[in-house]
Amino acid sequence: MSLQDKKILIGITGGIAAYKISFLIRDFVKQGAEVQVIMTPSARTFVSELTLATLSKNPVYSDFYGENGTWNNHVELGMWADAMIIAPCTANTLSKMVHGQCDHLLLATYLSARCPVFIAPAMDLDMYAHPSTRQNLEMAEDFGHIVIPAEEGELASGLVGPGRMAEPETILYAVKNYFLPQHKSLQGKTVLITAGPTYEAIDPVRFIGNHSSGKMGFELAKEAAARGAKVILVSGPTALVPENREIDLHRVTSAAEMLDEVFKHYHHADIAIASAAVADYAPKEIAPEKIKKNDDHLTIELVKNPDILKTMGAQKKQQFLVGFALETQNEEANALAKLEKKNLDMIVLNSLRDEGAGFKNDTNRITIFTKQEQIGFDLKSKKEVAADILDAVEMRLLK
Ligand code: PMT
Repeated sequence: MSLQDKKILIGITGGIAAYKISFLIRDFVKQGAEVQVIMTPSARTFVSELTLATLSKNPVYSDFYGENGTWNNHVELGMWADAMIIAPCTANTLSKMVHGQCDHLLLATYLSARCPVFIAPAMDLDMYAHPSTRQNLEMAEDFGHIVIPAEEGELASGLVGPGRMAEPETILYAVKNYFLPQHKSLQGKTVLITAGPTYEAIDPVRFIGNHSSGKMGFELAKEAAARGAKVILVSGPTALVPENREIDLHRVTSAAEMLDEVFKHYHHADIAIASAAVADYAPKEIAPEKIKKNDDHLTIELVKNPDILKTMGAQKKQQFLVGFALETQNEEANALAKLEKKNLDMIVLNSLRDEGAGFKNDTNRITIFTKQEQIGFDLKSKKEVAADILDAVEMRLLK
């Protein structure tokens, strides 16, 4: 039990998701952790102290003073904890936390805590999207806190979108992962990643290609290697060189070559992530010599390339299979169709309509879909995006 004897302090604020914390406490206790709970005054209207005290096997605190004038020592509670988790974290408490306000016991304890702090925001659609909330979450991350992003779905208001508190198992996973020795969470796993473009030769000097730089795939490879995985990276033509010499890089040019190389490794992989931008069509014939510009028009007949990812999906056994969808319109519908058609466990959508997302940039903005879930992320560096994708994979594969 990776959380054996860990001291977990849970701060509950006043949101409808407060009822889910009962499950989180039960899960922490099952993992061998000791749990104490603090509630804000408004959280008490959402969930009963008796339930939380029974599940945590400890008294629940919500005021500076207990019965008979005893003082609930926020400094002691803050010092006691190995990890503090604020879940659900409302916009109000988040704002107070990052601005140093202290008008109830939970905030005083947060300000006294020396341990890692995990924040699982939960609020309605527009509150979560509001620039002040985005800024407050960024400030929290700048303080070194771990923000567990809200998930998408139907919200208490009836609106649909991001704002639901992450599920208890996702919160539990984030905390467990934090305490893993050196974060080598993918030790013993083989991760196969495709990256970059493919070039489909027209003649000895020309090809059909695309704008992929390989950055997204190389960041995924780096992150997987940092987590202890054995990484096989099959990349189309790019100028990039992996910094980590343990990444097993195989360079290919065309889609046909990528297919061949992928299937030398796929059957041993535990996780496969297809971030390559594979050309869908290739010239039917490659001219043996450079084509001369003798005619005003030139017609090149194209034939369909193999769909590497679809073939991987069709032969899937133990692999957790992740595809990408690069879209310019009907993004969600297209991504979901690919998830289904290619028999994927997860698909990562990026849209060229989002500034800073997709090809070449050092940043990307993604939405992750599984058959049951949809999780949206802000624009981030490709390094952070790679970590988000692997976190999402691990949460579903290793829990
Ligand atoms: O390399 P960068 O400059 O960092 O840019 C990153 C990226 C934009 C290339 C990356 O984030 C991305 O979106 N990669 C997938 C691009 C793509 O080809 O998407 P698609 O929607 O056309 O393909 C869907 C999936 O099928 C992809 O996982 C693709 O790898 C796979 N595919 C597609 C066609 C084909 N013949 N074989 C495949 O395996």
